[in-house]
Order: sequence, then C-alpha cells, then structure tokens
Amino acid sequence: MELLDKLKWRYAAKAMNGNKVPQEKLDNIIEAISLAPTSSGLQPFEVFVITNQDVKEKIKPIAWNQSVITDCSHLLVFTAWDTYTADRINKMFDLTNTIRGFENEGWENYRQMLLSSYPQKDSEENFNHAAKQAYIAFSQAITAAAFEGVDSTPVEGFDPTALDEILDLRKKGLRSCVMLPLGYRDTDNDWLAGLKKVRKSKEDLITEIL
Ligand SMILES: Cc1cc2nc3c(=O)[nH]c(=O)nc-3n(C[C@H](O)[C@H](O)[C@H](O)COP(=O)(O)O)c2cc1C
Repeated sequence: MELLDKLKWRYAAKAMNGNKVPQEKLDNIIEAISLAPTSSGLQPFEVFVITNQDVKEKIKPIAWNQSVITDCSHLLVFTAWDTYTADRINKMFDLTNTIRGFENEGWENYRQMLLSSYPQKDSEENFNHAAKQAYIAFSQAITAAAFEGVDSTPVEGFDPTALDEILDLRKKGLRSCVMLPLGYRDTDNDWLAGLKKVRKSKEDLITEIL
C-alpha cells in the first residue's frame, strides 16, 4: 500500500479490541518518534509507554472515560520539558559532539546563543515551545502506526494536571501534552469505523502563490 492509502485507512479509532501490538511494530513506531525533527535538535520531550493495566485504569476517568485508554495495547503519553534549562541544552549539544566526534565553532556559538535566550524565558512559553516539538513527534507516530497497520487514537481529551500527578511528571520536570493509544480497531463496536472521512476542500486548505 502507498503511504497515502495507509493514511486514508487510518482514522481516530473510538473502540479497540485489546489485541496486542507486536514488539517489532512498536519499536518501529518509537523509532519514528525519535527520528522526528525538533527545533535545534533538542528533542525536548519524553514519551511514556504504558502497558500496565492498573495505570491505564487510573488514567481512564481523567480522560473522559474513553474506552481506548484501557482497551489499547500500548498507551503512549507524550510529555514535554516544563522549561529549557542550561543543563538540558548542554546535554543535547554535548551528545551531538560525542556522536559526531568533533567540535565546531559555529555549533558552539549556536549553543551559546540558545543558552543566552531559552533558560531566561518564562517557563510557560518554554513549555509551549517544547510541547510543539512533542506534537511533531506525535504526528510522526500516528503516521508510523498507520504504516505498520496499527490503529491509534490521538487523545487530547484529558485533564493534564491529573495526568501529571498520576505519572509523577512534575518531579521529573515534565508536563503531559497528548496521548496516543495504539492497538487494533474494534469495528463492531466503533460508531466511526466505516464512516467517510471528512476533510475540507483543497481550495479551502491551500492558497497557491504563483
Ligand atoms: C490533538 C488531537 C487531539 C484529539 N483528541 C481526541 C480525543 O480526545 N478523543 C478522540 O476520540 N479523538 C480525538 N482526536 C481525533 C480527532 O477528532 C480526529 O483526528 C478528527 O476528527 C479527524 O478524524 P480522523 O482522524 O478519523 O481522520 C484528536 C485529534 C488530535 C489531532
């Protein structure tokens, strides 16, 4: 199947059947998350992969009781840094130098530029910037899941403060952004399965400037 066919096959499943996603497919989805582009390459997010049923049960009531939270195979929770710190920025720049095996003046100047701006900014502004990066990876995970023939449901319908508490995120300097249950559609119990996709027209979406 071509990528576009797979994207047409994908929909936000409202019911899942509890079947398990094989480890290899999960690994590919996680690698796609890791390969997502991020601003300055900082990857200012962490993803929690939850298979523990008790934890899923705890999350469900603070997520509008959506059944996919407990009936999915793996529940991915995308979290973002609560702010940018010098330590976090340095870690990623140091990692780049280690992996590439050399230091570069331009890159070090760029590090200093980020160090003199991000950490001084308001933490809410920094979190929002970090969250945008998490959403890019989240989108990539949705596409990768479809590519693997795995269903997913983007879930923003939850109380982030409550989720932060359940996963003890604030102590780790993280805040929840969005969740992505992965699994397999339960077509018999999903009102959305089989309904036509609704998208606005190309004319309403695209403005060509020739
Ligand atoms: C950021 C985001 C949050 C969403 N939150 C929910 C959600 O909490 N529950 C849900 O059933 N669908 C949720 N959706 C799914 C959208 O409703 C769905 O993607 C949209 O209606 C388009 O339909 P399709 O994905 O089936 O093509 C969310 C989608 C996105 C991108």
